[in-house]
Amino acid sequence: MHNLPTFSLVLLNGIEHHFFPTIDSTNTWAKQNAHNFHTDKITIVTADQQTAGRGRLNRKWISPPGVNLYTSFCFFLMPNQNQKISLTNIPQILAISVVEILLELGFTAQLKWPNDILLNGKKLGGILSETTQIDEFICFIAGLGLNVNMTLNVLEGVGQPATSLLVEGKRLIEVSEILNLLQTQFMKNLTRLNNEGFMSFFDQYRQFLIHLANQSMQFHNNSEVLIGKFHSLNQDGSLNLELNDGAVKSFLVGEIQSL
Ligand code: BTN
Repeated sequence: MHNLPTFSLVLLNGIEHHFFPTIDSTNTWAKQNAHNFHTDKITIVTADQQTAGRGRLNRKWISPPGVNLYTSFCFFLMPNQNQKISLTNIPQILAISVVEILLELGFTAQLKWPNDILLNGKKLGGILSETTQIDEFICFIAGLGLNVNMTLNVLEGVGQPATSLLVEGKRLIEVSEILNLLQTQFMKNLTRLNNEGFMSFFDQYRQFLIHLANQSMQFHNNSEVLIGKFHSLNQDGSLNLELNDGAVKSFLVGEIQSL
């Protein structure tokens, strides 16, 4: 387990929506405009297409018009000792919320640690988290990209095994329906995280994860690449990787790939 700074949520008193037909990136816009957001509201920035969508580890996020969900959930946190929120758990509970609402729509998605959303083993969505300091608050920006109605030929250009709800479910789904379900579920889960901590999500998170004990994998983050086996998950959501020399190393963020 890691000894992390903790935060409390500034009371959520409603939702403010910003929609853009075209934008460079909902996360970039949110970061640039966070000083104008209401500190007591959740601000949801959504776009029909992104011209410079960003993924984790400096990758691009392919964001064609009219087919997918590109959205950033923004809200304010206060640094406070002995509170229940650790920053790394926020994208994890957003990913849990996505799996929950997809279940309601008839899809059984899974998670790849820490917060990639997979369907039938292929990437369906991902989350890019960023923060910016505004006065005494931290504005947390949780950017979600979810492939909804993207067709197979466009998916082939993504550069990794990826899929969409259309490809897997053979039916079109309104992107706005997903956003409506998700905003309710995420706000509920965020309030629960604030009140109860990540422990109350732990069993559910573990069940949604695709990894099996002893599975060989490559781990990388911005500074290192390691080969090892999936060892276990800690109650704070961090991953234990067993290295080839038997040592077990714990990580809060990074990316893993099965070998
Ligand atoms: C990943 O690499 O898995 C994370 C992808 C996150 C993409 C979303 S789309 C909405 C928001 N705006 C961005 O530029 N990125 C995130």
